[in-house]
Amino acid sequence: MEMIKESDLTVLFSTEQIQSGVKKLADILNKEYCNDELYLICVLKGSIMFMTDLSKHLKMPLRMEFIRLSSYGSGFTSTGRVSAVDIALPDLNDKNVIIVEDIIDTGHTARFLMDFIHHNFKPKMLKFCSLLDKKCKREVEIDADYHCFEVDDKFLVGYGLDYDGYYRNLPYIGYVE
Ligand code: IMP
Ligand code: MG
Repeated sequence: MEMIKESDLTVLFSTEQIQSGVKKLADILNKEYCNDELYLICVLKGSIMFMTDLSKHLKMPLRMEFIRLSSYGSGFTSTGRVSAVDIALPDLNDKNVIIVEDIIDTGHTARFLMDFIHHNFKPKMLKFCSLLDKKCKREVEIDADYHCFEVDDKFLVGYGLDYDGYYRNLPYIGYVE
């Protein structure tokens, strides 16, 4: 596996752009769900930054759950196979549930998770919220109910997104040419 140097990264979204995108989305959620209690389900590890930043702006009664799925190997392309590392969830029957993801790429992870929840629970509402949407790479038909930014077919790192486990800690999102 080749190593990426931080100096090789081109910034796609700065810290400021991300923070204002996340705030805008939170404003929408605060409006749409001002009278509802929400369950946010964070898909680890990639969504950790998005989940924490988004949740700090939300004003409705909120519960946060964390599950761990993996679909990417350690390289640049999706395997299309999703494995559930830890998918323990509370009773979601009759709850308003929003899944919080870092990025929808092929869509396999999103499809798997939506199907998993629908097979095991009858939520009052189930929505999918992704920081980034790589629409051009979709292999299964699925759309985010909410997203902050649409992105091209580039391999992105930072703000939770990793390459071989590295760069999740960057406060911005960048790519390698
Ligand atoms: P999907 O199942 O192909 O939609 O992929 C979803 C998962 O792949 C995301 O939750 C990410 O963790 C990972 N992923 C997709 N694109 C990228 C990328 O550009 N950089 C880093 N991880 C990515
Ligand atoms: Mg992810």
